[in-house]
Amino acid sequence: MCGIVGYIGPKQATPLLIEGLKRLEYRGYDSAGVAVYDGESLETRRAAGKIVKLEGALAADPVTGKVGIAHTRWATHGPPTERNAHPHLSSDDSVAVVHNGIIENADVLRKQLTALGHTFRSDTDTETISHLVQELYDGSLEEAVIGALRKVEGTFGIAVVSSRDPQKIVAARKGSPLLIGVGDGEYFLASDASAILAHTRQVVYLDDGDLAVLTPDGYKVMDINASPIRRSVERIEWDLEAIERGGFDHFMLKEIFEQPTTVGNTMRGRLILEDGTSKLGGINMSHEQLMNIDNVVITACGTSWHSALIGEMMIEDFARIPTEVEYASEFRYRNPIVTPRTLCIVISQSGETADTLAAMREAKRRGAHTLGFVNVVGSTIAREDDGGIYLHAGPEIGVASTKAFTSQVIALALFALKLGRKRTLSVMRGREIAQALDALPKQIQSILDQAAAIEKIADSYKDAHNFLYLGRGYNFPAALEGALKLKEISYIHAEGYPAAEMKHGPIALIDESMPVVFIAPHDAVFDKIVSNIQEVKARHGKTIVITSRDEPALEGLIDHEIRIPETVDMLTPVLASIPLQLLAYYIAVKRGANVDQPRNLAKSVTVE
Ligand code: G6P
Repeated sequence: MCGIVGYIGPKQATPLLIEGLKRLEYRGYDSAGVAVYDGESLETRRAAGKIVKLEGALAADPVTGKVGIAHTRWATHGPPTERNAHPHLSSDDSVAVVHNGIIENADVLRKQLTALGHTFRSDTDTETISHLVQELYDGSLEEAVIGALRKVEGTFGIAVVSSRDPQKIVAARKGSPLLIGVGDGEYFLASDASAILAHTRQVVYLDDGDLAVLTPDGYKVMDINASPIRRSVERIEWDLEAIERGGFDHFMLKEIFEQPTTVGNTMRGRLILEDGTSKLGGINMSHEQLMNIDNVVITACGTSWHSALIGEMMIEDFARIPTEVEYASEFRYRNPIVTPRTLCIVISQSGETADTLAAMREAKRRGAHTLGFVNVVGSTIAREDDGGIYLHAGPEIGVASTKAFTSQVIALALFALKLGRKRTLSVMRGREIAQALDALPKQIQSILDQAAAIEKIADSYKDAHNFLYLGRGYNFPAALEGALKLKEISYIHAEGYPAAEMKHGPIALIDESMPVVFIAPHDAVFDKIVSNIQEVKARHGKTIVITSRDEPALEGLIDHEIRIPETVDMLTPVLASIPLQLLAYYIAVKRGANVDQPRNLAKSVTVE
């Protein structure tokens, strides 16, 4: 989604801003721009399309200066054109603003400002802020920004510079993340730590309601009444390597191959093999609280919603607690049954997804205890939940989520195991599951070793127009996730279904041009899925079957087979998702798609 970068210090700002924007490219955007104070006035350069276009504009007409702000925009109000790209200037060009979020009363403000003589030059809601700041400026940029924010309704992460108060960047957040990078005699601003990690690991995360003023000599944080606030400096624990491709063609492929390590990292120090349980320091729940849970609600979006479905089955299976999964976007506007004895788990890679955050706040408001299963350390959900489990999968750059998904399932398994062992799960069963978890990293590696064979299968299907993904039980969510991966990055229409539901509709689609991926490991529902495979074969569909042993029952039914190792039923979706990710990846690459930045998608969706 939109990205913000700012710099103030002794160096030339433009190259640092461009470098920061490039580090945020993965989040998805469709135009970009910078505003730099050149000693006399604010100079802006903007371009529709990729950052390379902006670099072209800067090469043709360079800007120098040591204070600047920059932005990647993902269009919401108005098309992705140069005139709608941020930064947006005020009428007299003295104020430049970049903004993530949505100003809900922009239309009203626009009318008022136009009546006051301001001329608008874009279709964006953001532009109202620059005019407001110009209108309210009376010697101090932060005071003008405070005045403007008092009039604005909506969500924002903003950065503002002005030629009238040029040794400053003023930033503010409400609902859209921002952090300050504290360098050596220089200060950065960013919506995501990746943008500045090459220059500093020391960051100050801003909270909603915070306003920050950065100068060449330091920074201060205050509230909307200009009262100072203390915010601690935190250290980013991951390395630059984590956000670089490291020899792989794409981030997505790198992240798929990282999974033996990332899955191991999610479990590290948490799995207790001997007792068949887990130790989860961050959940902040007493034994009594865990015993008193009446029901669990899991809420999430996209891929995270798929892992939630697996979590639902695990919690009901291990701990016998009624659990339901809700799309966060639906949960937030329903009247869900949530009581103080409800546990609400929110799952989010980014920890910033607007709908998921709003759903968590709603659950909290209704008295539920909230747990965030989040990957990005310091993200909003992680800061506002009552407790949680960090995934420790490291930064995920590919827009299509891979390693975060497997780590989410692991985190859910660890939690379900703990809950189960406190309630109905026997130590023997607990141990069996814990050992199966422990074995996963090596098993995942053995699947990755088959990547070349999966790439070959992709060759046969790169020109398909439709795909079906079918699975049962724990592998129904895996089917949904496999279909989502394919459609996200290859733009082939794909649907996931519970295998037995096929005969209630999708079977009408099956002919010799329809590839059907079956997730059919040797689990409790294996025999059932064999008849579904027969139904597809009888209609000349092409079958790609992910299975786990030689099965006479499958003879003559398989066009392409992918073998995964055996594990306990509840962990089969972790193993099955690896070949599904690889299949989607190779098909997309063979179709020439931009795998890491698929069209129209954003890594983190911070608008409703
Ligand atoms: C976007 C991404 C998906 C992701 C979803 C939820 O749509 O493109 O890959 O699954 O958001 O994101 P979250 O960060 O909350 O897991």
